[in-house]
Amino acid sequence: MSKKLVREYYSKDCLYEWRRLVQDPYHRLELDTTRHFLRKYLPAKGLVLDAGGGPGRYTIELAKQGYGVILLDLTPGLLEIAKKQIGRAGVKEKVKAVVMGSIDNLNMLPDDHFDAVLCLGGAFSHLVDRRNRNRAGAELVRVAKKKAPVFISVAGRPAKFVNALELLPRGLLSANDAFWNDTLRRGDYRGGYGFTAAHFFTPTELRQELQGRLRVLEMIGLEGFFSTHRREYNRAIGLGKYTKALRELHIDTCTDPVAVGISEHILLVGRKRLHGRPARSSEDENQGQSPDS
Ligand SMILES: C[S@@+](CC[C@H](N)C(=O)[O-])C[C@H]1O[C@@H](n2cnc3c(N)ncnc32)[C@H](O)[C@@H]1O
Repeated sequence: MSKKLVREYYSKDCLYEWRRLVQDPYHRLELDTTRHFLRKYLPAKGLVLDAGGGPGRYTIELAKQGYGVILLDLTPGLLEIAKKQIGRAGVKEKVKAVVMGSIDNLNMLPDDHFDAVLCLGGAFSHLVDRRNRNRAGAELVRVAKKKAPVFISVAGRPAKFVNALELLPRGLLSANDAFWNDTLRRGDYRGGYGFTAAHFFTPTELRQELQGRLRVLEMIGLEGFFSTHRREYNRAIGLGKYTKALRELHIDTCTDPVAVGISEHILLVGRKRLHGRPARSSEDENQGQSPDS
Protein backbone atom coordinates (compact mmCIF):
# COMPACT_ATOMS: atom_id res chain seq x y z
CA MET A 1 0.00 0.00 0.00
CA SER A 2 2.65 2.51 0.98
CA LYS A 3 4.54 1.93 -2.30
CA LYS A 4 1.40 2.89 -4.21
CA LEU A 5 1.10 6.09 -2.15
CA VAL A 6 4.76 6.87 -2.67
CA ARG A 7 4.55 6.34 -6.42
CA GLU A 8 1.45 8.54 -6.64
CA TYR A 9 3.15 11.26 -4.63
CA TYR A 10 6.26 11.34 -6.82
CA SER A 11 4.19 11.12 -9.99
CA LYS A 12 2.40 14.40 -9.20
CA ASP A 13 5.26 16.75 -9.93
CA CYS A 14 8.13 14.92 -11.56
CA LEU A 15 9.87 18.09 -12.68
CA TYR A 16 10.05 19.27 -9.07
CA GLU A 17 12.10 16.13 -8.28
CA TRP A 18 14.53 16.99 -11.05
CA ARG A 19 14.96 20.49 -9.60
CA ARG A 20 14.72 19.55 -5.92
CA LEU A 21 18.40 19.45 -5.11
CA VAL A 22 19.34 22.60 -7.00
CA GLN A 23 16.38 24.83 -6.13
CA ASP A 24 18.27 26.86 -3.51
CA PRO A 25 21.51 26.85 -1.49
CA TYR A 26 19.85 24.98 1.40
CA HIS A 27 18.88 22.03 -0.82
CA ARG A 28 22.31 22.17 -2.40
CA LEU A 29 23.71 21.29 1.02
CA GLU A 30 22.25 17.79 0.55
CA LEU A 31 23.62 17.53 -2.98
CA ASP A 32 27.06 18.99 -2.37
CA THR A 33 27.64 17.12 0.87
CA THR A 34 26.62 13.84 -0.75
CA ARG A 35 28.97 14.60 -3.66
CA HIS A 36 31.78 15.28 -1.21
CA PHE A 37 31.41 11.83 0.36
CA LEU A 38 30.92 10.12 -3.00
CA ARG A 39 34.28 11.56 -4.06
CA LYS A 40 35.81 10.36 -0.82
CA TYR A 41 34.66 6.74 -1.04
CA LEU A 42 33.86 5.83 -4.66
CA PRO A 43 36.47 3.72 -6.42
CA ALA A 44 38.17 5.48 -9.34
CA LYS A 45 36.04 3.62 -11.89
CA GLY A 46 33.49 0.87 -12.23
CA LEU A 47 29.78 0.10 -12.36
CA VAL A 48 27.44 1.91 -9.96
CA LEU A 49 23.82 1.15 -9.05
CA ASP A 50 21.77 4.31 -8.42
CA ALA A 51 18.79 2.74 -6.62
CA GLY A 52 15.86 5.03 -5.96
CA GLY A 53 17.71 7.45 -8.21
CA GLY A 54 14.53 9.12 -9.45
CA PRO A 55 15.14 11.63 -12.25
CA GLY A 56 18.80 10.67 -12.34
CA ARG A 57 20.78 13.65 -11.10
CA TYR A 58 23.47 11.47 -9.50
CA THR A 59 23.32 8.95 -12.35
CA ILE A 60 24.13 11.65 -14.90
CA GLU A 61 26.86 13.16 -12.80
CA LEU A 62 28.58 9.81 -12.27
CA ALA A 63 28.16 8.87 -15.94
CA LYS A 64 29.86 12.16 -16.89
CA GLN A 65 32.72 11.16 -14.60
CA GLY A 66 33.12 7.92 -16.56
CA TYR A 67 31.31 5.42 -14.32
CA GLY A 68 28.92 2.90 -15.84
CA VAL A 69 25.57 3.36 -14.10
CA ILE A 70 22.32 1.44 -13.75
CA LEU A 71 19.43 3.61 -12.58
CA LEU A 72 16.50 1.99 -10.80
CA ASP A 73 13.39 3.66 -9.41
CA LEU A 74 9.77 3.01 -8.44
CA THR A 75 8.19 5.97 -10.26
CA PRO A 76 7.73 5.69 -14.05
CA GLY A 77 7.34 9.46 -14.58
CA LEU A 78 10.69 10.13 -12.92
CA LEU A 79 12.38 7.51 -15.07
CA GLU A 80 10.97 9.22 -18.16
CA ILE A 81 12.55 12.49 -17.05
CA ALA A 82 15.77 10.63 -16.33
CA LYS A 83 15.84 9.20 -19.87
CA LYS A 84 15.39 12.68 -21.36
CA GLN A 85 18.06 14.21 -19.16
CA ILE A 86 20.46 11.34 -19.85
CA GLY A 87 19.99 11.97 -23.58
CA ARG A 88 20.45 15.70 -23.14
CA ALA A 89 23.64 15.18 -21.13
CA GLY A 90 25.07 12.90 -23.83
CA VAL A 91 25.78 10.00 -21.44
CA LYS A 92 23.55 7.28 -22.92
CA GLU A 93 26.50 4.98 -23.47
CA LYS A 94 27.54 5.10 -19.83
CA VAL A 95 24.02 4.54 -18.47
CA LYS A 96 23.71 0.82 -19.03
CA ALA A 97 20.03 0.50 -18.06
CA VAL A 98 17.11 2.44 -16.64
CA VAL A 99 14.96 0.00 -14.69
CA MET A 100 11.61 0.31 -12.97
CA GLY A 101 11.64 -1.58 -9.68
CA SER A 102 11.67 -1.44 -5.93
CA ILE A 103 14.77 -1.54 -3.77
CA ASP A 104 13.34 -4.38 -1.68
CA ASN A 105 13.34 -6.72 -4.67
CA LEU A 106 16.35 -6.44 -6.97
CA ASN A 107 16.05 -9.95 -8.35
CA MET A 108 16.78 -8.70 -11.88
CA LEU A 109 20.31 -7.87 -10.70
CA PRO A 110 23.04 -10.44 -9.96
CA ASP A 111 24.94 -10.90 -6.68
CA ASP A 112 28.28 -9.15 -6.11
CA HIS A 113 27.93 -7.10 -9.26
CA PHE A 114 28.40 -3.36 -8.55
CA ASP A 115 31.54 -1.47 -7.58
CA ALA A 116 29.32 0.90 -5.57
CA VAL A 117 25.66 1.10 -4.62
CA LEU A 118 23.76 4.35 -4.01
CA CYS A 119 20.34 4.73 -2.44
CA LEU A 120 20.14 8.49 -1.95
CA GLY A 121 17.53 11.04 -1.03
CA GLY A 122 15.19 8.76 0.86
CA ALA A 123 14.00 5.70 -1.11
CA PHE A 124 15.04 3.62 1.94
CA SER A 125 12.93 5.91 4.16
CA HIS A 126 9.87 5.32 2.00
CA LEU A 127 9.68 1.71 3.17
CA VAL A 128 7.68 2.26 6.33
CA ASP A 129 7.47 -1.43 7.22
CA ARG A 130 10.68 -2.52 8.91
CA ARG A 131 10.54 -5.95 7.20
CA ASN A 132 10.61 -4.28 3.79
CA ARG A 133 13.56 -2.14 4.87
CA ASN A 134 15.35 -5.29 6.02
CA ARG A 135 14.76 -6.81 2.60
CA ALA A 136 15.95 -3.61 0.90
CA GLY A 137 19.10 -3.52 3.06
CA ALA A 138 19.80 -7.15 2.14
CA GLU A 139 19.20 -6.50 -1.57
CA LEU A 140 21.28 -3.32 -1.81
CA VAL A 141 24.18 -5.12 -0.17
CA ARG A 142 23.71 -8.39 -2.08
CA VAL A 143 24.23 -6.70 -5.46
CA ALA A 144 27.38 -4.85 -4.28
CA LYS A 145 30.76 -6.47 -4.77
CA LYS A 146 32.61 -7.50 -1.63
CA LYS A 147 34.10 -4.41 0.06
CA ALA A 148 32.23 -2.07 -2.31
CA PRO A 149 30.97 1.18 -0.74
CA VAL A 150 27.22 1.51 -0.18
CA PHE A 151 25.71 4.97 0.35
CA ILE A 152 22.24 5.21 1.90
CA SER A 153 20.62 8.53 2.82
CA VAL A 154 17.35 8.82 4.69
CA ALA A 155 15.12 11.41 6.33
CA GLY A 156 16.02 12.22 9.95
CA ARG A 157 13.48 12.09 12.77
CA PRO A 158 14.53 14.80 15.24
CA ALA A 159 14.30 17.40 12.44
CA LYS A 160 10.61 16.51 12.22
CA PHE A 161 10.12 17.87 15.72
CA VAL A 162 10.59 21.29 14.14
CA ASN A 163 7.81 20.50 11.66
CA ALA A 164 5.57 19.79 14.65
CA LEU A 165 6.32 23.30 15.91
CA GLU A 166 4.93 24.57 12.62
CA LEU A 167 1.87 22.30 12.64
CA LEU A 168 0.81 22.94 16.24
CA PRO A 169 -0.07 26.65 15.96
CA ARG A 170 -2.03 25.96 12.79
CA GLY A 171 -4.22 23.53 14.72
CA LEU A 172 -3.10 20.64 12.54
CA LEU A 173 -1.77 18.57 15.41
CA SER A 174 -2.77 17.70 18.94
CA ALA A 175 -0.66 16.06 21.62
CA ASN A 176 -2.44 12.73 21.25
CA ASP A 177 -2.55 12.76 17.49
CA ALA A 178 -1.23 9.69 15.63
CA PHE A 179 1.41 11.98 14.09
CA TRP A 180 2.67 12.79 17.57
CA ASN A 181 3.08 9.19 18.65
CA ASP A 182 3.70 7.24 15.46
CA THR A 183 5.80 9.81 13.62
CA LEU A 184 7.68 11.74 16.26
CA ARG A 185 8.20 8.93 18.74
CA ARG A 186 8.50 5.92 16.43
CA GLY A 187 9.32 7.52 13.08
CA ASP A 188 6.47 5.90 11.12
CA TYR A 189 4.65 8.54 9.08
CA ARG A 190 1.65 7.46 7.03
CA GLY A 191 1.25 10.72 5.09
CA GLY A 192 -1.38 13.42 5.53
CA TYR A 193 0.68 16.57 6.14
CA GLY A 194 2.07 17.29 2.69
CA PHE A 195 4.76 14.61 2.35
CA THR A 196 4.11 10.94 1.53
CA ALA A 197 4.56 7.83 3.71
CA ALA A 198 8.05 7.48 5.15
CA HIS A 199 10.03 6.22 8.08
CA PHE A 200 12.06 8.97 9.74
CA PHE A 201 15.26 7.71 11.33
CA THR A 202 17.40 8.50 14.28
CA PRO A 203 21.07 7.91 13.41
CA THR A 204 21.27 5.08 15.95
CA GLU A 205 18.36 3.31 14.33
CA LEU A 206 19.82 3.68 10.83
CA ARG A 207 23.13 2.29 11.99
CA GLN A 208 21.44 -0.61 13.80
CA GLU A 209 19.39 -1.55 10.76
CA LEU A 210 22.42 -1.75 8.47
CA GLN A 211 25.48 -2.59 10.53
CA GLY A 212 24.97 -6.36 10.34
CA ARG A 213 25.41 -6.14 6.56
CA LEU A 214 27.80 -3.23 6.21
CA ARG A 215 30.87 -2.05 8.02
CA VAL A 216 29.78 1.51 8.78
CA LEU A 217 32.50 3.92 7.66
CA GLU A 218 30.84 7.23 8.31
CA MET A 219 27.55 8.88 9.28
CA ILE A 220 26.92 12.35 7.90
CA GLY A 221 24.34 15.04 8.59
CA LEU A 222 23.71 16.33 5.07
CA GLU A 223 22.32 19.68 6.26
CA GLY A 224 24.30 19.39 9.50
CA PHE A 225 24.05 22.23 12.00
CA PHE A 226 22.18 24.35 9.43
CA SER A 227 19.38 21.81 9.36
CA THR A 228 15.81 23.24 9.31
CA HIS A 229 17.21 26.79 8.93
CA ARG A 230 16.45 27.01 5.25
CA ARG A 231 15.55 30.70 5.12
CA GLU A 232 18.47 31.85 7.23
CA TYR A 233 20.97 29.70 5.34
CA ASN A 234 19.73 30.89 1.94
CA ARG A 235 19.89 34.49 3.12
CA ALA A 236 23.43 34.11 4.42
CA ILE A 237 24.62 32.46 1.19
CA GLY A 238 22.84 35.23 -0.72
CA LEU A 239 25.20 37.75 0.88
CA GLY A 240 27.92 36.22 -1.28
CA LYS A 241 30.97 36.83 0.82
CA TYR A 242 30.34 34.08 3.42
CA THR A 243 29.75 31.19 1.03
CA LYS A 244 33.21 29.63 1.33
CA ALA A 245 33.33 30.02 5.11
CA LEU A 246 29.86 28.52 5.58
CA ARG A 247 30.60 25.58 3.31
CA GLU A 248 33.88 24.83 5.01
CA LEU A 249 32.28 25.09 8.42
CA HIS A 250 29.57 22.67 7.32
CA ILE A 251 31.93 20.09 5.80
CA ASP A 252 34.19 20.23 8.85
CA THR A 253 31.29 19.63 11.25
CA CYS A 254 28.74 17.46 9.40
CA THR A 255 30.02 14.19 10.85
CA ASP A 256 29.71 15.41 14.42
CA PRO A 257 27.11 13.10 16.02
CA VAL A 258 25.01 16.12 17.06
CA ALA A 259 24.97 17.45 13.48
CA VAL A 260 24.05 13.97 12.23
CA GLY A 261 21.33 13.68 14.84
CA ILE A 262 19.52 16.90 13.98
CA SER A 263 19.91 16.71 10.21
CA GLU A 264 16.95 16.57 7.83
CA HIS A 265 18.84 13.98 5.79
CA ILE A 266 21.31 11.48 7.19
CA LEU A 267 23.82 9.69 4.98
CA LEU A 268 25.36 6.38 6.02
CA VAL A 269 28.42 5.21 4.13
CA GLY A 270 29.30 1.58 4.63
CA ARG A 271 31.39 -1.12 3.04
CA LYS A 272 30.03 -4.54 2.19
CA ARG A 273 31.42 -7.08 4.57
CA LEU A 274 33.43 -9.98 3.27
CA HIS A 275 31.29 -12.34 5.29
CA GLY A 276 27.74 -11.51 6.39
CA ARG A 277 27.72 -11.53 10.16
CA PRO A 278 26.61 -9.31 13.03
CA ALA A 279 28.71 -6.21 13.64
CA ARG A 280 31.21 -5.83 16.42
CA SER A 281 30.80 -2.30 17.65
CA SER A 282 34.54 -1.53 17.66
CA GLU A 283 34.60 -2.21 13.94
CA ASP A 284 31.94 0.29 13.08
CA GLU A 285 33.40 3.64 13.85
CA ASN A 286 34.41 6.47 11.59
CA GLN A 287 38.09 6.06 12.19
CA GLY A 288 38.15 2.76 10.30
CA GLN A 289 40.97 1.49 12.51
CA SER A 290 40.03 -2.16 12.08
CA PRO A 291 40.27 -3.69 8.61
CA ASP A 292 37.34 -5.66 7.28
CA SER A 293 37.94 -9.37 7.60
C1 LIG B 1 13.39 12.32 -2.88
S1 LIG B 1 13.54 11.27 -4.26
C2 LIG B 1 15.30 11.07 -4.40
C3 LIG B 1 15.76 10.83 -5.80
C4 LIG B 1 17.28 10.81 -5.98
N1 LIG B 1 17.89 9.66 -5.37
C5 LIG B 1 17.87 12.08 -5.41
O1 LIG B 1 18.50 12.02 -4.36
O2 LIG B 1 17.68 13.12 -6.05
C6 LIG B 1 13.05 9.70 -3.60
C7 LIG B 1 13.00 8.65 -4.68
O3 LIG B 1 12.79 7.37 -4.13
C8 LIG B 1 12.01 6.65 -5.04
N2 LIG B 1 11.46 5.50 -4.30
C9 LIG B 1 10.61 5.53 -3.27
N3 LIG B 1 10.38 4.27 -2.82
C10 LIG B 1 11.12 3.44 -3.61
C11 LIG B 1 11.31 2.03 -3.67
N4 LIG B 1 10.68 1.20 -2.82
N5 LIG B 1 12.13 1.54 -4.60
C12 LIG B 1 12.77 2.35 -5.49
N6 LIG B 1 12.62 3.68 -5.49
C13 LIG B 1 11.81 4.23 -4.56
C14 LIG B 1 11.01 7.65 -5.53
O4 LIG B 1 10.37 7.24 -6.71
C15 LIG B 1 11.90 8.86 -5.70
O5 LIG B 1 12.50 8.86 -6.96
